[in-house]
Amino acid sequence: MDYLQIEGIKSLNGTIKISGAKNASLPLIAMTILAKNSVNIKNLPNVADIKTLLKLLSNLGAKCDFLEDRVVVDTATLTETKATYDIVKTMRASILVLGPILTRFGHCEVSLPGGCAIGQRPIDLHLKALEQMGAKIKIKAGYVQASAPNGLKGCNIIFDKITVTGTANIVMAAALATGKTTITNAAREPEVVQLCEILNASGVTIEGIGTAILTIYGTSQELINIKEFSIIPDRIEAGTYLCGGAITKSELTLENTKAEHLGAVIAKLEEMGSTFKITKNSITIYPSQVIKPVKIITQEYPGFPTDMQAQFLALATQADGTSIIEERLFENRFMHVSELQRMGAEISLNGNVATVSGKSQLSGADVMATDLRASSALVLAALVSEGTTNIHRIYHLDRGYDSLEQKLKGVGAKITRLKE
Ligand code: UD1
Repeated sequence: MDYLQIEGIKSLNGTIKISGAKNASLPLIAMTILAKNSVNIKNLPNVADIKTLLKLLSNLGAKCDFLEDRVVVDTATLTETKATYDIVKTMRASILVLGPILTRFGHCEVSLPGGCAIGQRPIDLHLKALEQMGAKIKIKAGYVQASAPNGLKGCNIIFDKITVTGTANIVMAAALATGKTTITNAAREPEVVQLCEILNASGVTIEGIGTAILTIYGTSQELINIKEFSIIPDRIEAGTYLCGGAITKSELTLENTKAEHLGAVIAKLEEMGSTFKITKNSITIYPSQVIKPVKIITQEYPGFPTDMQAQFLALATQADGTSIIEERLFENRFMHVSELQRMGAEISLNGNVATVSGKSQLSGADVMATDLRASSALVLAALVSEGTTNIHRIYHLDRGYDSLEQKLKGVGAKITRLKE
């Protein structure tokens, strides 16, 4: 198993190129199941989750040619419709194949993903919506068994809660359904927007893209022709490196990024004292020498992303004063707190609210990554810690950060990947 060794207290300087968004790539790869042609996807991040989904599609019979930052996926040869436990257990987002396979083949089995480190994460809303579209669903032997022999039918769906992969799954199911599907309380994340835009450009009319009400006009099971496209930049990776600039008080420029996807993140960094220069494809952070405390509540897009909560918690340990961070999306997303405390952070937890008393001088320690974003919080803390930090179990980090140590090394961090 690999671990990361980081020497702290070094300032950074330079430019980091942001990769394509993991969370956009996953539904867009699943979307290829709806295509009659082989689909060329560009700007794909080189991260473990993408390889996991491509492996799942290959196991189902698709042909996936993955070359550095692009992939060509041909699902014409896909005949198997069961996503087995061995893959789904490693990545919950495997559930994204349920909607497309069911709508194309009229049946699908996907292993139930189960809980994960950050909370229960049920898929009840995906299943309820598919049932409304006419699917018969059974849970048997740990699997969701879905069938719709005569195809799915468009209907009105109102999500009880905003769900990102739930919205993506139902949009894809609706794309080949018969008739019109309306989704109310749809997720508005840029990753969902890109999925809708590509489908729309491929002949599936979708109205209300980027709003909470989506209307999808299905093709009655006719497969679609999807032209080559490029994945949007990863806003969470970009936000993480902006926090890297703020915490080390270093000027950093991020290229291949879209500031308009980072509104809430940039607003909070501004409240903490940073200023920015923004161009169409780049963001430069000019950090403040004194970091101000902050109040954050995680919300669905365009609110402050839960996927940036851990990184801001690390940053808040370096603020002069008390910050309050409230997690509203996932019930157990503070696993990084105890590891940060071991590095000297003063954080008290009360339910879903963390109170961070800054500024603490952190010191390097052996710490354990517990989930994807928690891992990047530990990297940020290590960058400003006295001495050496060893971050273990970085397979979590490898799920979603493309070439993290090369990118940080490129701007002057002392970071090495080692074997346990
Ligand atoms: C996606 C992102 C993840 C991000 C999360 C919230 C991907 C691959 N992952 O996860 O990085 O942290 O959005 O922005 O895009 N819920 C239910 N029932 C359901 C579905 C969801 O109760 O059927 C609840 C969840 O437990 C959670 C909330 O709804 O409390 C939002 O979850 P959801 O948006 O579905 O998260 P994911 O799509 O899994």
